[in-house]
Order: sequence, then C-alpha cells, then structure tokens
Amino acid sequence: MQDLRTTKYPRMNRIIILLLVVFTTVLSSCYYDAADLLYPSAGTCDTATNVSYNQTIVPLFQQQCYSCHNNTSTGGGVLMGSYTNDKTIAVNGKLYGSVTHASGYSAMPKGMAKLNNCQLSAIKKWIDAGAPNN
Ligand code: HEC
Repeated sequence: MQDLRTTKYPRMNRIIILLLVVFTTVLSSCYYDAADLLYPSAGTCDTATNVSYNQTIVPLFQQQCYSCHNNTSTGGGVLMGSYTNDKTIAVNGKLYGSVTHASGYSAMPKGMAKLNNCQLSAIKKWIDAGAPNN
C-alpha cells in the first residue's frame, strides 16, 4: 500500500508547503508594520525615518481610538476613521493636545493609559509633516 499523497500527487506536498511559506510571509509582514509602535518594548522605536499615515498612524488609531471615534460612533462629536476626519483633528491641534494630555483638551485615549513616547513621536512627526495621506 503506497501513500497517495506522495505518489499520485507528487507535487501536492511542495505546493502546500509553498503556500504556507507565502501566507506566513505575508501575514508576518503585515503584522510587523506596526509592531514597534504597538509593542515598543519588543524593539526599538523606529519613527525617525518611518512614519506614514497608512502604515503607522492608522494601525495606532485602530488600536487606540477608532472604537470610540469612527463614522457612526462619534466620541464627543469627534469623527475619526477616514483620512479627511483624521487630518482635521491633526490640523486643528486637537489630536496632539488630547494625546499629550495638554491643558484645555480632553485626555485621550479616554479612560486608558497615555500613549507611549514612541507613539506620541510618530503622531507628532506625521502632524509636523502636514498630516500627509501617505
Ligand atoms: C473610550 C472611548 C474613547 C477612546 C478610546 C478615545 N476617545 Fe477621544 N473622546 C471620547 C469622548 C467621549 C470625547 C468627548 C470629550 C470627553 O468626554 O472627554 C472624546 C474627545 C476627543 C477629542 C476632542 C478633545 C477636545 O478637547 O476637544 C479628540 C481630539 C479625541 N477624542 C481624539 C482621540 C484620539 C486621538 C484617541 C486615540 C488615541 C481617542 N480619542 C480615543 C472617547 C474616546
């Protein structure tokens, strides 16, 4: 009795392994994008060169802000979750004021720990660059 998997479909195993490798690579590369920001203790803070709206800011907002601020649930009337809305609070100063707990602003994320320095410097860098949609 021979093993069908290796005799009748000799290329099947290789194809399956190849698919696994591809999936793992794709998944881990997505995961890696924001790993520094979300878990800074696991590595160094790399906001010196690498800050983009889509790769850095959105994953951070997804984890920390969008649960309360999105297109339907407007925490305190503040909409977030689209580039236009996110840029609005970046430009009017409310984003940085609230995440740095500056006086005159409601401290964000509300009821949760203040963002870490790596996250704050990423946000500052994005704002200073003019809040680009990159
Ligand atoms: C648990 C829900 C919740 C989370 C999480 C949250 N917010 Fe808020 N946010 C609110 C509420 C509610 C208000 C209205 C003001 C208040 O109640 O303090 C508000 C107000 C604001 C304001 C207006 C502040 C002002 O002084 O005008 C900004 C800007 C803001 N949030 C940004 C953020 C950002 C950025 C994050 C993520 C880092 C965040 N929020 C996370 C609930 C939340």
